Amino acid sequence: MNNKRLLVVGELNVDLILNDIRGFPKIGNETLAGEMEFTLGSSAAIMASNISAMGTDTTFCGKIGHDKFGEFLKQELQKRKVSTRYISTSDTLKTGITVVMNYEQDCANLTFCGAMEALNIKDIPWEDLKEYDHFHFSNYFLQKGIQKDITEIFKRMKEAGLTTSLDLQVDPDDKWEFDYKNTLPFVDIFLPNYSELLSLCKKNDLTAAIAHIRDYANVLVIKMGEQGARLITGEQEYRQGALLNKDFKDAVGAGDSFNAGFIHKYLNAASWENCLKYANLMGSLNTTRAGGTAAFTSAEEIRKKADEIKKRVL
Ligand SMILES: Nc1ncnc2c1ncn2[C@@H]1O[C@H](COP(=O)(O)OP(=O)(O)O)[C@@H](O)[C@H]1O
Ligand SMILES: [Mg+2]
Repeated sequence: MNNKRLLVVGELNVDLILNDIRGFPKIGNETLAGEMEFTLGSSAAIMASNISAMGTDTTFCGKIGHDKFGEFLKQELQKRKVSTRYISTSDTLKTGITVVMNYEQDCANLTFCGAMEALNIKDIPWEDLKEYDHFHFSNYFLQKGIQKDITEIFKRMKEAGLTTSLDLQVDPDDKWEFDYKNTLPFVDIFLPNYSELLSLCKKNDLTAAIAHIRDYANVLVIKMGEQGARLITGEQEYRQGALLNKDFKDAVGAGDSFNAGFIHKYLNAASWENCLKYANLMGSLNTTRAGGTAAFTSAEEIRKKADEIKKRVL
């Protein structure tokens, strides 16, 4: 438990997760899935829900529609004690949804963005920033209303004295137009996964991508799926393997749970090594249940399940 207060700004959508799918859907055919889950989705909201369950005081700022999905998302966040006071409702747009088709370690996602695209710089509670110590933002490419102001947003957060983190996530259009040269200097912790970093830097190998981005990134944390993660800051570098476990279900939200674990420890002033270790553990815990949040109920449960994972690493 720490007494730092976190503001998460980002997208909100429900996830309809289909597991155990027999083949890939084809037009004109019917494809069956063996299992289905309907859960809180979206990178930013999964991160917020899980870090709150770990014990960090968390507030979410995002946009939903006037509909049942929007209500469901608010309730799910509230169940994990996330404050929803800065979640606004669009009168014209519907709440977003992602249909996740899961195939072992990877998945094919189909997303309707809806209200999340309308969230913009004016929705951020600038007047109340003194209530917060850290700002986390996720899923840049899906939030059209935020894009042109991203540098300004991070700059103002730093000016207000907050520490900051960013998970860019994937660009569905594969253009990767994100002004990292001007934005990353205001981001304390940058949390891409391996393939996102290569795409952003337009490089084919990780060494070249790291060499390119390190001039702009303060602390670079690279998520590498079953290979674990790396952290690079200045001349320091750490690597940690993933904690592969017997109870693997799916990797939906693993990166967001990793982010939650990392930032939770960071706000507790842990060493980089311990931040990375705990992030890997939380990523691994995420994979034991379908979707991004089911494995993260309360701090006590998380501790218990994390101990089991440590004992049963493959
Ligand atoms: N199969 C797995 N077993 C154990 N841990 C995993 C597994 N897949 C991912 N993780 C953990 O979750 C983290 C994030 O997963 P990754 O797939 O790299 O991110 P993203 O979801 O952003 O693509 C990894 O760095 C690792 O620590
Ligand atoms: Mg990710």
